Amino acid sequence: MYSRVSLFRTSPPIYMKKDIVVIILAAGKSTRMKSALPKVLHKLCSRPMLGYVLDLVAGLKPKQVVAVLGNQQGLVRKVIPKGIKIVIQKKLIGTADAVKAGLSALKGFKGTVLVLYGDIPLLKKETLKKLIDYHFENNVDATLLTTTLKKPFGYGRIMRDKYSSVCGIVEEKDADEVQKDIKEINTGIIAFRKDRLAENLKYIRPNNRKKEYYLTDIIEILAKRDYLVDAVKVDDPQEALGINTRAELAKANSLMQKTINDKFMQNGVTIMDPASTFISFGTKIGADTVIYPFTVIESNVKIGKRCSVGPFAHLREGVELKDDVTAGNFIEMVRSRIGVKTFVKHFSYIADSSVGSNVNIGAGTVTANFDGIKKNHTIIENNVKIGSDTVIVAPAKIGKFAVTGAGSVITKNIPDRTVVVGVPARILTKKRKKNG
Ligand code: UD1
Ligand code: MG
Repeated sequence: MYSRVSLFRTSPPIYMKKDIVVIILAAGKSTRMKSALPKVLHKLCSRPMLGYVLDLVAGLKPKQVVAVLGNQQGLVRKVIPKGIKIVIQKKLIGTADAVKAGLSALKGFKGTVLVLYGDIPLLKKETLKKLIDYHFENNVDATLLTTTLKKPFGYGRIMRDKYSSVCGIVEEKDADEVQKDIKEINTGIIAFRKDRLAENLKYIRPNNRKKEYYLTDIIEILAKRDYLVDAVKVDDPQEALGINTRAELAKANSLMQKTINDKFMQNGVTIMDPASTFISFGTKIGADTVIYPFTVIESNVKIGKRCSVGPFAHLREGVELKDDVTAGNFIEMVRSRIGVKTFVKHFSYIADSSVGSNVNIGAGTVTANFDGIKKNHTIIENNVKIGSDTVIVAPAKIGKFAVTGAGSVITKNIPDRTVVVGVPARILTKKRKKNG
């Protein structure tokens, strides 16, 4: 990777490699998503896409991180951890203006400014490290992360001169037919020497179809002023997927899902059909658990070892399955904790419940948790047997070793070791023998 200037450049960088700050641009609207929700809060595997970018940045351990917010900043702010400086872009007039806002929080800093966009969530830490290493070791003024796409539609195209040096970026909307044919694209990630970025932003003009201040215009400005501009290519173009539309969101979601599912499989979880298994970011699953097809696991779910989940299981937020639990087929669970060696099979709805160990929940059991005003809790203690089609009208507690007959409707607490039947359930047998 030579460029016309780098061959002559010998002076060492004026700053240290560790002198690095990150500006994350997340002020934009959700125009192409046609959404009231800010784009960066749209989710991949149940997590806002900005969360992945923030993780990536944390892994780089920069000296400072500045997030530029604008559109619905109150909402976006909620996903930004403490320690990250937030600046507000007052008018959303383009990425160059957003970077300018970011720089206002970095006065006095000398070193590398890495600009990241909040809508590029699949990027890997190693790729960014490669970019930063190249930028620093070659003493470049602006290093772009680029990639090659067979269908580059929508992305800024990389212009190279007769020496093959980067000399500009042309946006899709402003490109002519020849430029549209260029397959090398701007991923949006650029490492800058801070002083070069700061002193040249002011030359950017909104002379384009969108009448915006494009950060990408700085590349031509730097090249024309004989500053050193260079590029590092990402090998896997999927990493650089920028999300502007719902279709791109769906594509990124399935790529992220593949990464999550692959990681579970590497860690000893069997996923019978990864293509029909949707597991949220942050889920915990123990080894030797088997996930059957058509399973959806939402956020904040923890599954123990040797469990069996699905087929057709929907584990919603706040579910915890201890070891050796069988959950499914056809079940829905939410905000519930299920003890070891408990079976919840065949068409059940378990909500706001604490279920003990060695419990057997019969087919079609429902915990009726909602009374129209509030959600109520069900407690099912250890070694209980719930007969098929039981409805437990919460709040209710079913004592240990109790049994409910098929079709019973539980409306009050059931003492330990009793057998109840009917609608509403009445006591049939008191003090049932252990395991009887
Ligand atoms: C941008 C690049 C394009 C690149 C593509 C990669 C520019 C002008 N174009 O296009 O070359 O190929 O990303 O995905 O940069 N934002 C602000 N304030 C603004 C405008 C945008 O903070 O005033 C933020 C957005 O929230 C977003 C990011 O900047 O996170 C990029 O903006 P977006 O509109 O998605 O740019 P693209 O059209 O994708
Ligand atoms: Mg974009």
